[in-house]
Amino acid sequence: MTENKLNILVLGSGGREHALCWKIAQSPLLANLFCAPGNGGTGNVAQNIDLNMDDHQAVVDFCQAQQIGLVVIGPEAPLVAGLADALTAAGIAAFGPSKEAAQLEGSKGYTKDLCAEANIPTAAYGRFDAAQAAHDYLDRQSAPIVVKADGLAAGKGVIIAETLQQAHEAIDDIFGGAFGQAGAELVIEEFLTGEEASFFVLCDGENALPMATAQDHKRVGDGDTGPNTGGMGAYSPASIMTPALVEQTMQEIILPTMKAMAERGAAYRGVLFAGLMLTPQGPKLIEYNCRFGDPECQVLMQRLDSDIVPALQAAANGSLANISLNWRDEVAMTVVMAANNYPAAYEKGSVISQLENVDTDDTMVFHAGTARDENGTITAIGGRVLNVTAKGKTVAQARDNAYIGVGKIDWPEGFCRQDIGWREIQREQG
Ligand code: AMP
Ligand code: GLY
Repeated sequence: MTENKLNILVLGSGGREHALCWKIAQSPLLANLFCAPGNGGTGNVAQNIDLNMDDHQAVVDFCQAQQIGLVVIGPEAPLVAGLADALTAAGIAAFGPSKEAAQLEGSKGYTKDLCAEANIPTAAYGRFDAAQAAHDYLDRQSAPIVVKADGLAAGKGVIIAETLQQAHEAIDDIFGGAFGQAGAELVIEEFLTGEEASFFVLCDGENALPMATAQDHKRVGDGDTGPNTGGMGAYSPASIMTPALVEQTMQEIILPTMKAMAERGAAYRGVLFAGLMLTPQGPKLIEYNCRFGDPECQVLMQRLDSDIVPALQAAANGSLANISLNWRDEVAMTVVMAANNYPAAYEKGSVISQLENVDTDDTMVFHAGTARDENGTITAIGGRVLNVTAKGKTVAQARDNAYIGVGKIDWPEGFCRQDIGWREIQREQG
């Protein structure tokens, strides 16, 4: 390791991790960057490593052997499994919450109870570990209503029931094992109306530094139709999150959460991703995630002007009070290209070409489900595969740049939504 410089390990293999690697790679504080397992794009900016994240000792051993000074944990599953605790116990700085603090994403009931305790605005709810009590509660509610498996269900554990009958069926599905252990408990929630926004805050256990706002597009089809996905495109900033709403969200949602977590002995460190519903009564919490959003991270990284490494380190070691972040004035947008038929079953192994033609000063591609072979050929190996990410002075310009990039890519086996940013463009064009 070069003096005062840092070896960094990023864990994950999505577009989020490619974006994090791309941003970290620009830091003057970086010595060597590793990504495990990485993807066909992370290999351009980091050294891809074959490392099993479920094997905490293997991760610790790698970090000790390579003198890793900071581990950035991308996805939720290793956080909920306690990887940050294992690293911290071995004296290795980890960006990401402890196992207990990651319960904010790992258990919907945990978060709902915390909100109730700390008076945080969120949908009214009931929490159940047995079917009969859940059915009885539901009989006293009206539709539409939302039924959620308590645990991590890869984004699939939320059922928006249009009728009480559907909600009763959802209860039976969840307790019947449709989501495995994630469905050992469930939450029934009031249906909230409004526009959704994603809000990201860096936390060090005590201090909270608001990052930026974004909006995702969860449905697979144009016009927000079809099944839910991991996210088909995003932009930042989301103008609907005005500075006043950001301040209100900090005061009513984020800071009370951090205080309540600290009081529980589970001080929150890492990035806290609040999924918000902007209701006529003000912002309400839909859910917390204990990691960056994907694809939201891609647009955040493109807009972030400051070096990210000191901020990640400060979140890990409790010195965020000394950090400020500068964001570019421009809008960033990312359009996700997915394998045909995603989010249902899709083919793997199709070849993607012409990617090198996409890069301009404003436009680039973050890889997700791709692999690169020894000849440099890129193949699709996942559902969400590419993130064409562009900047612009306006949303319309960012969108035009992103879709020009999409048009250059030769991948007949892939598709994307054609209307990413539609709400924001409508607002922009008045
Ligand atoms: P979650 O996994 O909790 O983010 O839920 C997935 C999606 O379901 C959210 O992004 C919302 O679009 C929707 N959703 C979840 N909870 C509610 C709610 N209480 N009211 C309305 N929509 C919801
Ligand atoms: N894009 C939403 C998520 O990362 O959960």
